[in-house]
Amino acid sequence: MRMRHKPYAVDKMLEHPKLVVFKPILYKGKWNQLFDNSKPLHVELGMGRGQFITINASIHRDINYIGIEKKNEVALIAMNRALDIEPALDNLRILPTNIDYISEIFEEGEIDTLYINFCDPWPKVRHAKRRLTHRNYLNEYKQLLKPNAEIIFKTDNRDLFDFSVEEFKESGYELTEVNYDLHSLVDPSNVMTEYEKKFSEMGVKINRLKALNK
Ligand SMILES: C[S@@+](CC[C@H](N)C(=O)[O-])C[C@H]1O[C@@H](n2cnc3c(N)ncnc32)[C@H](O)[C@@H]1O
Repeated sequence: MRMRHKPYAVDKMLEHPKLVVFKPILYKGKWNQLFDNSKPLHVELGMGRGQFITINASIHRDINYIGIEKKNEVALIAMNRALDIEPALDNLRILPTNIDYISEIFEEGEIDTLYINFCDPWPKVRHAKRRLTHRNYLNEYKQLLKPNAEIIFKTDNRDLFDFSVEEFKESGYELTEVNYDLHSLVDPSNVMTEYEKKFSEMGVKINRLKALNK
């Protein structure tokens, strides 16, 4: 996601220490304490401007949500989107950080659901390890997910999707859904991401898989 550099982004986010967590490693294994409840924990990797996670958090107040985004200027937009929602989203935290630190942020078996939405496809073979669905990442997520917890992955990119299906299988997940045209049937539970809306309006088919941590 291209975005003009905003040098003030960090300062703006520091004004909202309840919503934006700058030192997430302090809460490894303690996210329930931070939220002050024992609701399930859902995490979105690369949340972008936060459309998906803020809508989910406002609908499902019985779930705690964490959105991770490495670009401060993009995370700032997600923060402002969250602040606009009434009543206030006390079940959402925004982490302006890199997914590469995920094992320092979450304890083994701490996550109930992980969302990967329209991640960068890294089409060159030599960059395959950067794909968030590469087996190296999937094996790392496995440690952090509860047994039988779910990863839900959506993308417009068919090559990335085919690659990912194989990676999930190789990494020992059980695929419970492999859908090559998500919008061919109405699924009222599906919350569209910003990229999903953009691509589906262009007529591009959206792929979705669901994988259980077995
Ligand atoms: C293509 S956008 C998709 C945004 C959103 N998920 C959607 O579906 O509309 C991917 C986002 O992931 C973020 N991202 C990519 N790699 C990341 C990483 N290693 N750690 C954190 N965020 C990352 C990018 O900065 C970008 O905002």
